[in-house]
Amino acid sequence: MSMNNQALPGNAIAVALRKCRSAFVNVGMLSCVANILMLSGPLFMLQIYDRVLTSRSLPTLAVLVGLVFGLFIFLALVDMIRTRMLLRVGHQIDVAINQKTFGLIMQLPLVSRSNGDGLQPARDLDQLRQFIGSAGPIALFDMPWMPIYLAIVFLFHPLLGFAALAGIVILVVLSFVNEVLTVRHVREVSMLFARRSALGEAGRRNAETVRALGMAPAMMRKWSEVHDPLLERSRRLGDVMGTLTSATKAIRLLLQSMILALGAYLAVQQLVTPGVMIAASIITARALSPIEQAIGHWRNFVGARQAYARLNTLLSSLPGDDGKTALPAPMKTLAVENIVVVPPGAKTPSVQGVSFELKAGDGLGIIGPSAAGKSSLARAIVGVWLLPKGHVRLDGAAIDQWHPEVLGRHIGYLPQDIELFDGTVAENISRFEEESSDEQIVAAAELAGVHELIVKLVDGYETQIGESGSTLSAGQRQRIGLARALYDDPFLIVLDEPNSNLDSEGEVALTRTIRQLRARDKIVIVIAHRPSAIDAVEKVLVMAEGCVKAFGPKVEVLKSVLAPVPTPAAAKKQNKPASSSEPLPPLSIPRFLGKTASVHAMPKRDRK
Ligand SMILES: Nc1ncnc2c1ncn2[C@@H]1O[C@H](COP(=O)(O)OP(=O)(O)OP(=O)(O)O)[C@@H](O)[C@H]1O
Ligand SMILES: [Mg+2]
Repeated sequence: MSMNNQALPGNAIAVALRKCRSAFVNVGMLSCVANILMLSGPLFMLQIYDRVLTSRSLPTLAVLVGLVFGLFIFLALVDMIRTRMLLRVGHQIDVAINQKTFGLIMQLPLVSRSNGDGLQPARDLDQLRQFIGSAGPIALFDMPWMPIYLAIVFLFHPLLGFAALAGIVILVVLSFVNEVLTVRHVREVSMLFARRSALGEAGRRNAETVRALGMAPAMMRKWSEVHDPLLERSRRLGDVMGTLTSATKAIRLLLQSMILALGAYLAVQQLVTPGVMIAASIITARALSPIEQAIGHWRNFVGARQAYARLNTLLSSLPGDDGKTALPAPMKTLAVENIVVVPPGAKTPSVQGVSFELKAGDGLGIIGPSAAGKSSLARAIVGVWLLPKGHVRLDGAAIDQWHPEVLGRHIGYLPQDIELFDGTVAENISRFEEESSDEQIVAAAELAGVHELIVKLVDGYETQIGESGSTLSAGQRQRIGLARALYDDPFLIVLDEPNSNLDSEGEVALTRTIRQLRARDKIVIVIAHRPSAIDAVEKVLVMAEGCVKAFGPKVEVLKSVLAPVPTPAAAKKQNKPASSSEPLPPLSIPRFLGKTASVHAMPKRDRK
C-alpha cells in the first residue's frame, strides 16, 4: 500500500499499522485463496463446454455442479473473513491512536492558529478507519493477481493475452488520470468542509448575538460563501468519478466482447476450443476487476491518503510529554526570567523581556490597559503557551521540565474567558478527576467562598451546568471557576480578571480568598482592571505594550504610575505641554481605578 511509503519510523500510525502486520499477511493469504477460488467459475464453464457438451454425460454435469456449489460457498466465507479482518485492522488502528488524536485536538490551539475546523484530526481518523475497513483495500490485495490471470490468458493463446494486456494498460492509464484529476478536488472538498464546520459551530455558539443583532442574513451569506463552492467541488468530483467509472465499465465490457470475438476467430481457425474462448473472456474480466474496483474507490483512497498524511504530520510535529522526571511539589519560588511570549500563530510577540521573582506568600497584581499583554503573560506563567525565549521556573526548575498533568496539579488558573465544561458543579471544581474526594471539592469551594452559593443551586454540587456552564450566570461561572483553580491545594494561583463579573459580595469573598491563600504560603497573581481585586496583594506589576513599566511594592508603584511624566510624543499628540500632574495613556490608570475611585483610594485601602 502506498500509505506505508509515507510512514516514518516511529510515528504513531505507522507503529499501529505495523502491529497489524500479521492481520495484513492473513488478508493477503485469504486473498490468494479467494482468487484461486474465483477461477472456479471460468474452469466450470470450460468443463461444461469441453466435457459435458461433447460427451453428453449428465453424471459429469452433476458432479461439476456439486463441486462448484461447495467452492462458491467456501469463497463467500473467505471473502467475508477477509472483509472482517480489515474492519478489525481499522478498529485497532483507531483504538491505538484516537486518544492521541484527541490530545492533538486539545493541543493544537496552543501552538498554532487554525482557520478551519479544530476537529479535523478526529474526522481524518474516521476517514482512515472507514477506508481500511472498506472494499478499497481488498482491490489492492487483488491487484497482484492480475499478472497471474494475464499469464493464464496468454497460455490459452498469445493473441488473447495481448488483447487482455492492452485492456489492462488502458485501465491503468485511466487510474492515473483519475489520480491527477481527483487529488486536488478531494483536498479542496475536505478543506471547504472543515471551514463549513467551523462556521456552523461559530453560528451555533453565538446564536444569541446573531438573533439580537439581526445577523442571520449576513451569516447565511457567509455560509453560502463556503457551502456553494463545497457543492460545486463535490459535483465536479462526482462528475470526474462518474465519467471515469462509466468509461472503465464500458472498456471492460468492450474488452470482454473483443476477447470473445478474438476467441471465436481462433476457434473457427481451430486454434482454441470454444471453452477456451469463453474462459478467456471471463478470466480477462477477473483480471480487470481489481483496477475497476480501485477506480470506483479512488476518491476514498485519495481521501484516506490525505487524511493519513495530515494526521501523520500533526502527530509527529507536536513534542511528546513522555519521559519527564517526576519533580517534587514546588513550594518556595516563582521566577520569570526575561520571557518573550508569541501567541500561537502570531508573528509578533505580545510580551517582551518580562522578569520578576515571587516567593511563597507573595501576592502580585498585574495591571495595565487592554492589549497590554497581561493575559499573554498569565498564559506563559501557567505554561499553556510555548516560550520562544526565557524561562518560567518553579523552585528553580523550568516549567517545561514538568509533565503537564503533574504541573497542572500545582497550578490554579482562572482564565479570562472562564471555560467550564458540561457536567456537574462538583465535576467542574474537581477538574473531572476520577479519584476526587468530596472533602477536597468542598474545601476548594469554601476557600473560594462559593460554597454557600453552590448549595443554593437546585441540585447543589450535583447541579448540571450545561454546555460551557450555560445554565449559570456569568458571576456564578466565575466563582465556580475560582473554586476549580483552587482545587487540590495548588502552589501557584494565577487569576485573570477574576472579578470582572462579580458583585460586591463576590469581590469581598475574592479578597478574603487571596488573603487566605497568601497566609497558606501560596503565590497568588491577580490580573485586574478594578482596584478591589488587588486589595489583598502587596506587589504590583504594571504592563503596557507588552513590557513591564513598573514592578514593586503596591504603594510605591501606584504612587509612581498615578503621577507619570508623559512622554514627549504623548504630550505632542494631545497638543498639550508635558505636565507631571496629569495621568495619561498608555497606562490609562483612570480606567483601572474605575469611575468612582479617587486618586487616593488605593493607598488608603491598602493600609486597611
Ligand atoms: N491567541 C492570540 N493570537 C494572536 N494574538 C493574540 C492572541 N492573544 C492575544 N493576542 C495579542 O496579544 C496582545 C496582548 O493581548 P492580551 O490578551 O495579553 O492583552 P490583555 O492585557 O490581557 O488585555 P485585556 O485587558 O483586554 O484582557 C494583543 O495585541 C492581542 O492582539
Ligand atoms: Mg486579558
